[in-house]
Parts: sequence; C-alpha cells; structure tokens
Amino acid sequence: MITVALPKGRTLQATLDRFARAGLSPEEDFAATRKLIVPARGAQARFVLLKDPDVPLYVERGAADLGVCGLDHVLESGADLLVPLDLGFGACRLCLAAPRDSAVARGWRSGDSGAEKGRSLRVATKYPRLTARAFGRRGVPLDVVRLSGSVELAAVADLADAIVDLVETGRTLEENGLVVLEDLLQVSARLVVNRASYRLKLEELLPVLERVGGPA
Ligand code: PRP
Repeated sequence: MITVALPKGRTLQATLDRFARAGLSPEEDFAATRKLIVPARGAQARFVLLKDPDVPLYVERGAADLGVCGLDHVLESGADLLVPLDLGFGACRLCLAAPRDSAVARGWRSGDSGAEKGRSLRVATKYPRLTARAFGRRGVPLDVVRLSGSVELAAVADLADAIVDLVETGRTLEENGLVVLEDLLQVSARLVVNRASYRLKLEELLPVLERVGGPA
C-alpha cells in the first residue's frame, strides 16, 4: 500500500492527471466529497488531500510515501525529503514586490533598501525562511510579518513595506499597484518521496515514479 499526498491548490488537477498515467486515480472525486482520504481505484494505494504547504511534512514523517508540491514549499519546510522529479507544471516565481511609487520601489535598484533610517524593512510573506535567507545574503535588516494569504494587501494597507510572494500571471500585483523588485526563486511542482519508503517500498514506488515523470 502506498499513500500519495495531493496538494489541494491550483496544481491539484495537473497532479491527478500525472498519477492517472501511472494507473492511480481516486475512486471518489475530491471535488464531490468532504473525505480527505480516498482509496485509489483498483490499486494498493490511497490519496490524502492536503494544503500545499503541509505536503512536505506528511511525506517527511512518513504519513504519506510520496506527494506533489511546489519547490517553494519544499524549501520553506526544510523537510528532509527525496526530490527526484521536476514535474514541470505549476510554474511561477517567488518575488520581492512593493507598491509602485513607494520609497522601497524607488530605492531598491540603487542598492538602498528603502526602509526608514534606523528601522528594519518590514516584509510580509507566507515564506519567512526563504525571505530571511534572501535578505540575509544582502545584509538588509529585516522584520518579517508572517501571513497566510492575500499577502499583497499587506503592502497596500501599510502593514508592510514590501512583500515576498508567488507571482504567476502578475495580475494580482498589477491590480493592487505593486511591482516586482527582484525574482528570488523559480518555482514548479516537484515530486517528493519519503526516504525510508524509497528503500522499503522501492518495488511499488519505482513504476509510479517512472510513469508520473514520464511522457503522457
Ligand atoms: C497566489 C499568490 C499570489 C497569487 C499570484 O495566491 O500568493 O497572491 O496567487 O497569482 P497571479 O500572479 O496569477 O495573480 P493564491 O491565489 O494561491 O491565494 P492566497 O493569496 O490566499 O494564498
């Protein structure tokens, strides 16, 4: 029996399509049920449905043998995982952004953080670890404001000077008057595998990994 952790966000359908290539499909449609754990049709496997940032933890701790989530969540979690495949879909960027006409936006390209003198730069994000790492490299004093969604609002509503968040089409930034100051990470969906499962369930896992990562 293998347990597959599915991300319930934007990449759910693309993830289900990949597992269908390996003959693994949930016997109930997750969109039509409130169940969070569903057996695979006709196979020794089951699916669990998770918030995307929780996928690395479930897989690291062995509550799931493998799963799919963005590289952003793999790195932010710090989980000890095998990450054998870039699945190619879910492409987006983790960016530093700020209001178009702000001191931060004006100052950033001339090497100035734009924060008021003697004050740290307040940056709102769902990614405190990746944000601290990016700013640590630049030596900018940082005050991370940790949020769980609608991050762009923080820079508009004066909760923060800037944000670090995902940009896919750029529409959310554009419609809220923000601009990208810097790309921090190119993101796409990754297959993640529990280290012990890879050793102990190799026979079950290998054909799944090959087909999920292979051509349609
Ligand atoms: C993500 C991300 C941005 C938005 C970017 O949020 O955090 O807010 O999508 O997409 P765009 O560049 O195509 O506009 P999501 O919709 O997942 O919701 P959240 O803000 O509640 O996390």
